Amino acid sequence: MNKIANYIKQHQNRFIDELFALIRIPSISADSAYASHMQHAAQSVADALAAAGCSHTELCPTKGYPIVYGEKIIDPKLPTVLVYGHYDVQPPDPLELWETPPFEPEIRKTDLHPEGAIFARGACDDKGQMFMHVKALEVMEQNGGLPCNIKYMIEGEEEVGSDNLEDFVRANTQKLENDVILISDTGMLANDIPSITTGLRGLSYVEVEVTGPNRDLHSGLYGGAVANPINILTKMIASLHDEKNRVTIPGFYDNVEVVSDADRAEMGKIPFVLDNYKKALDIEAVYGEEGYTTLERKSIRPTLDVNGIWGGYIGEGAKTVIPSKAYAKISMRLVPHQKSDEITTLFAAHFTSLAPKGVRVKVTPHHGGEGYVMHPDGLEFQAARKAYLETFGKAPLPVRDGGSIPIVALFEETLQSKTVLMGFGLDSDAIHSPNEHFGVFNFLKGIETIPHFYHHFTAMYQANQ
Ligand code: BES
Ligand code: MN
Ligand code: MN
Repeated sequence: MNKIANYIKQHQNRFIDELFALIRIPSISADSAYASHMQHAAQSVADALAAAGCSHTELCPTKGYPIVYGEKIIDPKLPTVLVYGHYDVQPPDPLELWETPPFEPEIRKTDLHPEGAIFARGACDDKGQMFMHVKALEVMEQNGGLPCNIKYMIEGEEEVGSDNLEDFVRANTQKLENDVILISDTGMLANDIPSITTGLRGLSYVEVEVTGPNRDLHSGLYGGAVANPINILTKMIASLHDEKNRVTIPGFYDNVEVVSDADRAEMGKIPFVLDNYKKALDIEAVYGEEGYTTLERKSIRPTLDVNGIWGGYIGEGAKTVIPSKAYAKISMRLVPHQKSDEITTLFAAHFTSLAPKGVRVKVTPHHGGEGYVMHPDGLEFQAARKAYLETFGKAPLPVRDGGSIPIVALFEETLQSKTVLMGFGLDSDAIHSPNEHFGVFNFLKGIETIPHFYHHFTAMYQANQ
């Protein structure tokens, strides 16, 4: 398989140029002003898949942005891998914090990426990681062909909750039939410590609105005599955690998966340097639920966080006013056995009950989804493990991640298949933040590792038949 590494070396500059072209398309799904760019990005992905070797590609229309589908079926008796990814990206704001414009990719060296990293919105999440799969297809096609069948489903609404993907998957179970789902949209521990994501958290996301008087009031004439919605909202939010930093919503922890001491001890072996973590974030201390380590807090424990809060006067200077309304967006990260809908209901009931007379509370649910855990003894993990062993020279560690890809649980339910999460980004790659980047090493290593996965998965699948 040295052929693969050689081919990648020969063609790496072109691979990077092609990725740059895709990154330059500002495919921001959250902002309808970018709708034409979304179409352009979808078409570019379909074209790239066709050029790499898919025998069939199409843009499947949805009520929102199209889903790119591609396939190469070489033999119905061979196993089929379904690759999922997304071509949409998060909005790049705040723009002034970017060192170079978000849609003009540039390679710069960093401490963790001495060989250079591609700086741009979507470089890591998920254009760079998704594009590894397109190039892995080319690599296999040009070096002996595919060992199995491959299907691609690349969506354009992941960053806004995948609203239309569920209908598409339910309506196309036969078209999407597969033996394993492969996703590169997560991270790994470090460039010299390969890892495979074995868990994702679920998500419940709500927006709250607190209304007081029917108009903004003079804070001198009315201050002290009526409830100020911002005072009330912040007090309500503050009460959502107790002194041990546990969430106070009744029932919130009822179904939380209990991780065994043995599994927690295993997690404790993951190389993680708290000092480096703090230094990278410029914080003096970490903060979180009592009784758990930082790694545990961000993977096996559920959380509640305010993502945004607003209301009242925020312009220049001072305006003496009691606002009529105050708002916040709140996300809860969930762990196995917590149901997103149930948690949203618990939140709404509790939050409403917190409000004193004199204000009204409205809770609006946004998107959500269930978490996912995979077992490292499964075929798919073992095949991935062998692939990393070959390309990194080290066995990958199984690591549960804190982020969410809600569609993974739906895949298991509707397509009855397991998902393997081969992510090549680093936590420090600043996804969703200004100066997002993706290591050139990571991009190329991903392209190299993926073909080995197909090879091992096919061999192990056949041996199992
Ligand atoms: N790729 C991320 C999820 C991710 C990143 C998982 C790193 C694990 C490690 C994905 O694009 C994402 O941002 N998901 C959202 C949820 C979605 C419903 C908007 C998230 O986790 O906030
Ligand atoms: Mn992503
Ligand atoms: Mn994302």
